[in-house]
Amino acid sequence: AIDIRELRSSSGYITLDSGFMNTGSCCSSITFLDGEEGILSYRGYGIEDLAENCTFVEVAYLLDHGNLPTREELSKFSQMLGKYAMVHEDMIRFFDGYPPNSPPMAILSSMVNSLCSFYPEMLDNPLENIDKMAARLLSKVRTIAAFSYKKSMGQPLVYPRHDLSYCANFLNMMFDSPVKPYEINDTVVKALNKLLILHGDHEQNCSTATVRVAGSARVNLYASISAGINALWGPLHGGANQAVMEMLTQIHEEGGNYKQFIAKAKDPADPFRLVGFGHRVYKTHDPRARIIKKACDDVLTALNISDPLLDIAKELEEVALKDEYFIARNLYPNVDFYSGIIYRAIGIPTNMFTVMFALGRLPGWIAHWKEMWDDPDWRISRPRQVYVGPKRRPFVPLAERT
Ligand code: ACO
Repeated sequence: AIDIRELRSSSGYITLDSGFMNTGSCCSSITFLDGEEGILSYRGYGIEDLAENCTFVEVAYLLDHGNLPTREELSKFSQMLGKYAMVHEDMIRFFDGYPPNSPPMAILSSMVNSLCSFYPEMLDNPLENIDKMAARLLSKVRTIAAFSYKKSMGQPLVYPRHDLSYCANFLNMMFDSPVKPYEINDTVVKALNKLLILHGDHEQNCSTATVRVAGSARVNLYASISAGINALWGPLHGGANQAVMEMLTQIHEEGGNYKQFIAKAKDPADPFRLVGFGHRVYKTHDPRARIIKKACDDVLTALNISDPLLDIAKELEEVALKDEYFIARNLYPNVDFYSGIIYRAIGIPTNMFTVMFALGRLPGWIAHWKEMWDDPDWRISRPRQVYVGPKRRPFVPLAERT
C-alpha cells in the first residue's frame, strides 16, 4: 500500500494509474472502441462492414488518410505499394546473418529499424513524405515477412509481382516455389484480407501506445514502428495468437481434456492463464472475435479442412463462458482466440502468427504516429512515478563497505 503523501511531487500530486487502466494519453479521431457494448469502428465505419466489404489496402488507406479511397485514389495507392515492394539487395543479405530459428519478430523489428538507413531522405520532412513512408512500410514489411519465412525454410526467395493484389502477392511470396507453383485461392485471399483488416487498429493498445511514446521524442517513423513491433511480440499482447495455438495443440496432444486447462486457469496459486481470453477494454464479446470465429468456419469449410483444434477451441469457449470464474471477471475470447486456426488452415506457420499481426497493425501504427506528429498539443511522453525506494542514506566509501 502506498501512503497518499508519496503521491506528492515537486510539481503537485501525481495520478498513480498502474497499467494506465483509466488514463487517456491523447485525443484521437482514428478508432472508436466501446468495451462495454463491444463496438469497434475505424474512422466512423463499423468493423463488421469493413471486414465484409473491403480489402486490407482500402482499410489501410482509410486509417491513414481518414476516408475510404475513391477508385482513383485506390489505384494510385496500389501503384505505390507495387512500386515500393522490393527490399534493397543489401538488406536481403541481413537475413544470412541470423542464426537458424531466429524469432521472426526479432528479424522484423531490426529490419524495420534499418529502413531509415536505406531511406534517410524521408526523415527531414516526415509529414510531407508520410504517404511515401507509409507505402514503403506497408509494402516492404510484407516482403520482409515473406522473405524471412523463405530463409527459415532454406528456400529461394520469391520476389513480389506487380500483377497481384496485396494479399495474393504476400501468399505467392510465401508459398510459391520452383518445384510447386502456388495457386492463388480466392477464399484464402479473402480470409487474409479479413484478418488483416480486423487487426488494423485498436486505439491505445500496448504496441500503439509504444509507437506514440517513442515517436513523441521525435524519433522517425521506422524507429517508432520498430519499437511497436517489439511491444507487440509479448505473449500478453500480439504474441497471444501463437500462444493460443500452442495451448490448443498441447490440449489436443494430451488427449483433449480442455477442462483441466480451465481448472488450471482458475487456480489462484497457478500463474497459468487461458490464452486468447480476456481483454483490458472489452468486458463483453470482442466484436473481432465474433467475425473471426465465423470466418474460421467458412474458411475451413471452403478448403475442406477439418481441424480438431477448432473443435477444442469451440468446446472450451462454450464451457468457459458458462463458468462463474469467467463470468465474474468478464472474460471472453479475444481477437487471438480463433485467428491462429485460420492462419494454420492457409499454411502460415505458428511462429509467423505475430508477424501477421504486425502486418495488419501497421496502418494503425502509421496513422497514430502521423496524428501524434501533427498534433498542436503534442508533448514528449514523460510519465511520473511514485518513488518507493530507500530514503536518503549517508554515503559509505568503498573501503568502509562491509
Ligand atoms: N485466464 C484466466 N484468468 C484471467 C485471464 C485469462 N486469460 N485474463 C484475466 N484473468 C483474471 C486475472 O487472473 C484476474 O483475476 P483476479 O481478479 O482474481 O486476480 C482478472 O481476470 C483480471 O485480470 P487482469 O490481469 O487484471 O486484467 P488486465 O486487463 O490487466 O489484462 C489481459 C488483460 C492481459 C489481456 C489478460 O486478460 C490476459 O492475460 N489474457 C491472456 C493473454 C491474451 O489473450 N492476450 C491477448 C489480448 S488481446 C491483444 O492484445 C491483441
